[in-house]
Amino acid sequence: MLTERLQRLAGSQTSGMRNRARKLRAEGVHVVNFAAGELDQDTSPSIKQAVRKALDDGRTQYTDTLGIGPLRESLARRITRNTGIPYAVDEVGFTAGAKQALFSAALAVFEEGDEVIIPAPYWVTFPEQIRLAGATPVFLPTAHNGFQIDPDDLTACITPRTKGIILNTPHNPTGVVYPAAVLEKIAALVLQHNWVCIFDECYDELVYAPAAHSNIVRLVPAMKARTILIGSLSKSYCMAGWRAGYFAAPAPVVKAIANLQSHVASNPSNLVQYAALAAFDAGNDAFIAGNLAQLGEQRRIALQLVSHLTGLPCVVPEGAFYLFPDVSSLFEKTFRGQRVGDVDRLAELLLEHAHIAVVPGSAFGADQHVRISYAIPAEEIVIGITRFAKFVRLLAQA
Ligand SMILES: Cc1ncc(COP(=O)(O)O)c(C=O)c1O
Repeated sequence: MLTERLQRLAGSQTSGMRNRARKLRAEGVHVVNFAAGELDQDTSPSIKQAVRKALDDGRTQYTDTLGIGPLRESLARRITRNTGIPYAVDEVGFTAGAKQALFSAALAVFEEGDEVIIPAPYWVTFPEQIRLAGATPVFLPTAHNGFQIDPDDLTACITPRTKGIILNTPHNPTGVVYPAAVLEKIAALVLQHNWVCIFDECYDELVYAPAAHSNIVRLVPAMKARTILIGSLSKSYCMAGWRAGYFAAPAPVVKAIANLQSHVASNPSNLVQYAALAAFDAGNDAFIAGNLAQLGEQRRIALQLVSHLTGLPCVVPEGAFYLFPDVSSLFEKTFRGQRVGDVDRLAELLLEHAHIAVVPGSAFGADQHVRISYAIPAEEIVIGITRFAKFVRLLAQA
């Protein structure tokens, strides 16, 4: 009964690992959850209060497809501030999470026969969405270059069918932040070849000084005409479960996405739009700064502990909240007489025997790595990495 399109589609592996950890927890096992893709924090009280008010005010009807007027105005102001280039209301839209914005964008600009370049490792959903749009992902390897894009490698990926590129900075799963100089070189290629650049900056506010986030449109204003900017409230505003994301693009693309969204979802939840409006307007800078300071400390602790895991090199992340160590030196070892073999088995063993949930890098096109999220309490990080170290000591040389 199933279409080929969906037969080929596997569920998100990051959600899969989280679900398995949740199940073990429900059985009473203390699992350290390094698999989370969100902060371990509640949404700020001012945002919750705005939603209570919206509910009392009866904000329960359908809304405009891409969001209520005040929200789109607020979004346009936000993107204008971030890019330094004026964005109008008809150049922005609100969606049920960045994931939906990304999918709508892929359907709007990519189709059968197109190739879309994605730096690998990549966030698990990018290639699937490209394939669902009928296009072909082309992976640009970065692991040999500390997960940074080498413009020469990018040039080697270009074919007559190349239609676009998806950039994500700060990057999930590696935590790297793309430097301005590299983004400028990529922008030159985008403009030269008339590609579309999908620029996912869901973690833009979670960057550790002295590193700084660069927006490609701010760097190269001509990129405004070729770029779809993607943002999310899931991470810095601790609103993952609310499903709140947004995008900015040339007006005809926004119009096409509005048409699509009108048939797929009508509009993002009315109440969540009031939450987003409060998030943007109510001065949540202190909330974000507090979370970032805490994450910085968690990052320091996690990095220090992981650096003691001999044979597991790890690039120092400058943004987001993930470590992405290379664990391939463990594959040839054995656990209770059986070869570890690969990263999926390693993640299973870590969950079963060390009670820590990590996401195997295979989910991100990097089967020598695991992703460790340090957006959990410091005590949990210490317990978890200590368990990891103990597990590594139990492994025997084959
Ligand atoms: C790089 C990246 N883009 C997009 C998303 C999706 O965010 P949202 O929760 O807004 O759909 C995530 C979530 O993990 C992500 O890591």
